[in-house]
Amino acid sequence: MNIIIKNSAEEASAAVAEILLRQVETKPDSVLGLPTGATPLGVYARLRQEFSKGRGRYKDVTTFNLDEYLGLSSEHPSSYAFYMRETLFRHADFKSERTHIPDGLATDAEAEAERYESLISTHGGIDLMVLGLGRNAHIGFNEPGSPHTSRTRRVALASSTLDANARYFQPGSSQPTHAITMGIGTILESRAIVVLATGREKADAIAASVNGPVTDAVPGSALNRHADATIVLDRQAAQALGAVQLLELGV
Ligand code: F6R
Repeated sequence: MNIIIKNSAEEASAAVAEILLRQVETKPDSVLGLPTGATPLGVYARLRQEFSKGRGRYKDVTTFNLDEYLGLSSEHPSSYAFYMRETLFRHADFKSERTHIPDGLATDAEAEAERYESLISTHGGIDLMVLGLGRNAHIGFNEPGSPHTSRTRRVALASSTLDANARYFQPGSSQPTHAITMGIGTILESRAIVVLATGREKADAIAASVNGPVTDAVPGSALNRHADATIVLDRQAAQALGAVQLLELGV
């Protein structure tokens, strides 16, 4: 696992944006895996900014988002489909038919999960998967206990995840308790993985994911099973990594 530690969340976001830009410059028809949430906002802001300056072309890029809430339409302001359109897709030359997100309104969630999984295969798999990390070390919505071999499926969200994400829902509006998420096994099949984590509240999840043991109890620890995984952190998120480890990293 490669670990990159930057001074600030802004610098860490810029580093991840740079990795994405180089990916699409090297392979214009790249297949990208993308996260939502607070963490990647700085990355997407940077991609918007670069696109407006003429850098980054996405018309041949295919994207697969990690997850979507069950029960929300793509027009719902708290849906991940809405988030992606508003924070990234409509600001660049992404083709809507190439941007994929599980259907939150699917009547048969398991069938939708299977369809999504086979769509990823049909596109030859994911070249570069970008991930955030939950405070409980979840990746996608694979909560602690998810097998590292899990595939795309319907999942129940942990109560700590519901609490952490309550801020994205209007007071009084109902917050979905279930989602469709890419499985950890699905994520691990990506050719390269980049994880961005920033802020003190991610420090323990990072330490547990990096230091092992590799266990289903810590979804982020599955990254140790991947041959090309990079974790990009700000100093706060790196805070709980041991001093020896930081020394080895030259920090
Ligand atoms: C989002 C996702 C989640 C988030 C994680 C961190 O698509 O799959 O795993 O990456 O919950 O969320 P933030 O960035 O809001 O702290």
